Amino acid sequence: MEVIKLGVKDFQRFADFEKEVTVSAYCVSEFIESYGYDVYVARRKQQWIGYLIVHELNDKQFDIIHIVVQEAYRGRGIAHQLLHFFQKDARPKEVSLEVREDNDAAVRLYQSHQFDIVARRKRYYGDKDGVLMVKANKTILAIETSCDETSAAVVQSDYTILSNVIYTQKEHEKYGGVVPEVASREHVEKLPIIITEALNQAECEYSDLDYIAVTYGPGLAGSLMIGVEAAKTLGWQLELPVIPVNHMAGHIYANYDEGNLQYPLLSVTVSGGHTEIVELQGPEQFRILAQTHDDAIGEVYDKVARVLDLGYPGGPKVALLAESGEANISFPIAKVRDDAFGMSFSGLKTAVINYVHKHKQNNLEIHKADVAASFQDAVIRTLDEKLQLCLAEGTYKQIVLAGGVSANTRIREHIKQIANERGIHFTVPKSELCTDNAAMIGLAAAVQINNNIDITNDEIKIKPGLVLG
Ligand code: KG4
Ligand code: ZN
Repeated sequence: MEVIKLGVKDFQRFADFEKEVTVSAYCVSEFIESYGYDVYVARRKQQWIGYLIVHELNDKQFDIIHIVVQEAYRGRGIAHQLLHFFQKDARPKEVSLEVREDNDAAVRLYQSHQFDIVARRKRYYGDKDGVLMVKANKTILAIETSCDETSAAVVQSDYTILSNVIYTQKEHEKYGGVVPEVASREHVEKLPIIITEALNQAECEYSDLDYIAVTYGPGLAGSLMIGVEAAKTLGWQLELPVIPVNHMAGHIYANYDEGNLQYPLLSVTVSGGHTEIVELQGPEQFRILAQTHDDAIGEVYDKVARVLDLGYPGGPKVALLAESGEANISFPIAKVRDDAFGMSFSGLKTAVINYVHKHKQNNLEIHKADVAASFQDAVIRTLDEKLQLCLAEGTYKQIVLAGGVSANTRIREHIKQIANERGIHFTVPKSELCTDNAAMIGLAAAVQINNNIDITNDEIKIKPGLVLG
């Protein structure tokens, strides 16, 4: 299934198609050209199966005239895709439409696209009432500089990502880890270029922006400072509100790119600095149920990569090597005293390091792939055990995976399987949205905007040790 925007040459075919699928009283084909309507068609192979007609009232202000899907294809998300495509294509600032008040399915569809009911129209449809629904889309420039990625993105408040430019600093490779001073210097140098590129790719001007969003913690103090100061300067200059975003919330909300989140949900957040299972009863209602008491999983992946001489950053390299190995070495899974939900990975890290050193000292051959696979297996077993415990804490509609380590295929598959077994919806962001990026910060800002969460333009201060909740 794909959606196309029609050109003038298609209008004759469209007139025939419209007559075929629509009650003739509603046909508007004859006005298309004179009124300057735009028409989007959903097609399957060469067959047309649905359409959306919009009218641009003012600059970037649209009214949806009709959305129609052929009867045989209803209930398959085609109207959703038509709406999605139109919005991506036209980038509307405001969209309005009228719908019959008792058409629950349609009202719900529009609500899921952030439309609000703003007025009721008595007997608008014969003897039936109508409702006027409006969606005002805001454009957010998001900035992320918490660690060693310099990133800027343009995101709309309906969770559409218009651009996401990520510069991964390479300077750190020769040190085998992130050097804070080097990271700050790189951010200073690269951020202006990255912001310009993000605006260019989104085909946006500064004047199109409604908000600036920025990560204010957790992260490296010097790195956070660069992003926050840049955001505040832009906010001041453009007279726009600046939304402070928690980096960890950003990782979780990256899942909005996969569709609306269903609350209550559990997030398995696994990154270079954090490992936690978080409950969200609703947007922004965080409660950490389980977390590591020492190392984060990503950090341990990087250490294991170093001891196996795989280079930096190590996570993806260990993951790749594990594919060709067998989990035949028994590495311990540590229990945390007095915290059944607690996780600990430093014992596992030491066990892997000791294993490798002992083999080296005794001149024994090391099957690196087996070490990688066995380590990864221990990580997955730990996550499995803790997630099962957390799932017993409530009734959850969705499990999301978040953070840099969720780029890991095996971990994705395993968590997905747990969700499937319980009939719970599962999502994980695309790889480029798993590791640090500014689009996730923009999505988190969109959550705040859509839920009317206190957005402040006051002095934003960096919080290197910021926690969720
Ligand atoms: O979320 P992130 O980009 O940065 C932090 O906020 O910490 O996570 C980076 C971490 C690194 O430790 C990296 O090695 C790990 O995510 N990582 C992976 C994979 N891709 C990235 N770990 C395991 N398997 C992967 N495929
Ligand atoms: Zn991160």
